[in-house]
Amino acid sequence: VRVIAIDGPAGSGKSTVGAAVADQTGLEVLDTGAMYRAVTLAALRSGTDLLDGTALGKLAASLRLSVGPRVLLDGEDVTHQIRSPEVGAAVSVVAAHAPVREVLVEQQRAWVEEHGGGVVEGRDIGTVVFPDAELKVYLTASPQARTHRRAGELGATGAEQLGAVAEGIAERDRLDSGRAVSPLQVAEDAHVIDSTALDLDEVVKEVLALL
Ligand code: DC
Repeated sequence: VRVIAIDGPAGSGKSTVGAAVADQTGLEVLDTGAMYRAVTLAALRSGTDLLDGTALGKLAASLRLSVGPRVLLDGEDVTHQIRSPEVGAAVSVVAAHAPVREVLVEQQRAWVEEHGGGVVEGRDIGTVVFPDAELKVYLTASPQARTHRRAGELGATGAEQLGAVAEGIAERDRLDSGRAVSPLQVAEDAHVIDSTALDLDEVVKEVLALL
């Protein structure tokens, strides 16, 4: 099956680029970050200890997740809730636990089987989930560019809000890159695209050219 892996840090443009590449190739797109966010929302709601990997793994396995244009958690539409600051602040902690990752990685592989391939975006797609992907792209951009993109998505304005977004991104970068299990890293055979000075159309063109 045909898999295009898109990895990179928060705000690097993965979702926008992934959607456009899916559109151009006729593949469907899977946002694996939304899966980690949905498990995090469920953990916060149930009061599960965010340091208890075993409990979080069990919780993840008990959930019915559906990730598409809308994100459903046991049938409830949580598309907006999973983007809240509370979930954003906790998701890197939840995603660091091996039992959680085992459950979600298995679901990601099953999703690709069911859909006959796909554009899959996340942090460990080219390194761990689909090491044999047809194309691996590692998208990056300067912290400033990523802050501005994320702020735009969130509708954040003003120095104080921008500062908070920048801090949130820096903290997630630190946790996602520094964790022991499946850290954010560039796969050996990934194509690195720095989008700091490119608009996302140009990035999509580059990805399609690589394909
Ligand atoms: O892409 P995003 O910012 O919505 O991802 C949210 C968090 O989920 C991110 O900070 C780390 C985690 N994540 C992960 O560990 N592995 C993935 N494949 C995707 C996301």
